[in-house]
Amino acid sequence: MSRQQATAIAHSNIAFVKYWGNRDQQLRLPYNDSLSMNLSAATTTTTVGFAEDLNTDRLTIDGEKHIGPALDRVSRHLDLIRLRAGIRLRASVQSRNSFPMGTGIASSASGFAALTMAAAQAAGLRLTEAELSALARRGSGSAARSIPGGYVLWHAGSGDRDSYAESVFPPEHWDLRDIVAIVSRRHKGLGSSDGHGAAEGSPLFAGRLAAMAETMSSLRGALASRDLPRFGAILEAEALSLHAVAMTGRPAALYWSPATVALMQQAHAWRAEGLPVWFTLDAGPNVHLICEGKDATALESALRNLDYVEAILANRVAGAAHLAPTLLTA
Ligand code: PMV
Repeated sequence: MSRQQATAIAHSNIAFVKYWGNRDQQLRLPYNDSLSMNLSAATTTTTVGFAEDLNTDRLTIDGEKHIGPALDRVSRHLDLIRLRAGIRLRASVQSRNSFPMGTGIASSASGFAALTMAAAQAAGLRLTEAELSALARRGSGSAARSIPGGYVLWHAGSGDRDSYAESVFPPEHWDLRDIVAIVSRRHKGLGSSDGHGAAEGSPLFAGRLAAMAETMSSLRGALASRDLPRFGAILEAEALSLHAVAMTGRPAALYWSPATVALMQQAHAWRAEGLPVWFTLDAGPNVHLICEGKDATALESALRNLDYVEAILANRVAGAAHLAPTLLTA
């Protein structure tokens, strides 16, 4: 029996300039460039084994077997890799997240990045980082940014091949931290795949895109010069811009809970008291608090005093997705 197997580890990422809306929904081609950092405490480890004795793909996440929509999405992604490699073998996919599922931390970025790298390797494909990133994008847009390391820019590109992400600075460039305040473990109402489709219906979407070149160049400038107050101001405005579009999309999505609003206001209050921290958000209620390494301990203990914060996940800037020895039995 022939078995082709590989394991990959990828970090999730938080976008500073965000991806919201696809100009090509099927290819997951975004309207705008986006820029993120990889998250050290949020990883997915995935083993993919193609085997002759399997007649369907199989998916296990954190020890639990998945069928239905989750398996279908993984199978469609594996089809792209099978097509490219010229193989027809079905695969067993075993995935583990370092962070508990259901904490509202998006696992699709690290999940599809690890799946892409492991499956491409197991299928015998030898792809460049840019090719892997473009392929990961097909599974989940933000997964494109979880292939390269450190601070990562995803070029919207003009088509499938040139819509990929690359590192703009290594993790050592700037010791930023993302302390995620988990305020709700509830599953979000409108998943991001549907959220991208709803964005075009917002009357605010055109305005967001019109400002995007300026948003990206100022944020890149502040990142290059490690200017946190400037960086933070753009960061907060950008997160609120995405949520303004989501709230006015068709269908509309309100991702915030009362604790989300309380934390955004708390970040402002902490700044007024001399703790330099700024917020950003994903498509969910949890708040990502961005600060420098020197302020992380103070921020974490301030967060522990808030009774509406259920848990915190402290991240440094992490490196690229990589292959690892296979420890799981696929
Ligand atoms: O990759 P997706 O389809 O889950 O979209 C991610 C969307 C945001 O997390 C809200 C923004 C981003 O750029 O990551």
